[in-house]
Amino acid sequence: MISTAVFREKKEKARKIVMITAYDSASAEAVHAASADIVLVGDSLGVTVLGYQTTREVTLADMEHHLKAVVRGAPQAFIVCDMPFQTYDTPESAMRNAQTLIDTGCAAVKIEGCNVPVIKSLVNAGIPVMGHAGVLPQTATEYKVRGKDSVEAARLREETRQIQDAGCFAIVLECMSAALAKTITQELFIPTIGIGAGKECDGQVLVFNDLLGIFTKFKPKFVRHYKGLKKEMIDGCATFACDVRSGAYPLNEESYR
Ligand code: KIV
Repeated sequence: MISTAVFREKKEKARKIVMITAYDSASAEAVHAASADIVLVGDSLGVTVLGYQTTREVTLADMEHHLKAVVRGAPQAFIVCDMPFQTYDTPESAMRNAQTLIDTGCAAVKIEGCNVPVIKSLVNAGIPVMGHAGVLPQTATEYKVRGKDSVEAARLREETRQIQDAGCFAIVLECMSAALAKTITQELFIPTIGIGAGKECDGQVLVFNDLLGIFTKFKPKFVRHYKGLKKEMIDGCATFACDVRSGAYPLNEESYR
C-alpha cells in the first residue's frame, strides 16, 4: 500500500510526480507499466470515453464502473478517483460517496474547488483527498487561463492554501498562468500537479486519450500528442475492412481445421 507521504517526499527532493488518467483495465495496465506515480480515474472519461458533452453528466455509477476496471488492470497502482459533479455537495453526501469509491478500490479521491468542510470531513475520516484548483471543469462556464489578473491570482493563492490546510495531500492546478502556478508551488508544502500550468509544478498530469492522440476533437495548447493512435486505430480497422472484402482475411493459417 503506497502512502501519500511519498508524494510529499518527492516534492521535498524535487522529484517530479507523474500522473496519467486511465479509464479501463487496458489503459490502467499501460499507465502503470509506464511507471506513472499516480493513476487518475478522471471524470474526463465522460467526454473522452462516454461521449458526453461535459463532465457534469458523469454519475457516481459511471465512476464506480470505470474504477473497478482500472483496479483490475493495475491493482498495485496508487489510484485516485474523481468524485463526480454534485456527489460532494455536503460533508454527509461526500462521505457516503467517497466511501463507495474507496470500497471500490481507489486509494484517494479528488474533488474540485475550495470546499473546506467537505475536505476536512473526508480527511478526518481517513480518506486521502487530492484537491483541484484553477479551471474546474465541473462548474466552469469558460475555459480561459486563470490567474492572469492580480485579484484572481490572490484569490487562487488563498484558496490553494485553504485546500492544503484542510488536509489535501496534493493539488491539481489546471489551466493557470505559469507564473502563478510557480508561486503557489513555492508557497505550498503539498505537491502541485499541473495541467496547463507550466513547468514549475511538482508534477504533471495528462489525459490518456490526449497524450496518445486518441481524443482529437479539440487540442488545448498544453496537450502534447506523444502518439497518433486515433489515426492508427482508423488505419488498422480500415485495413481489416479491406482485407475482409477482398478475401485477404482470414488466411488458412488463421483458420481452424
Ligand atoms: O478528469 C480529469 O481527467 C482531471 C485531470 C484533467 C486532472 O481532472
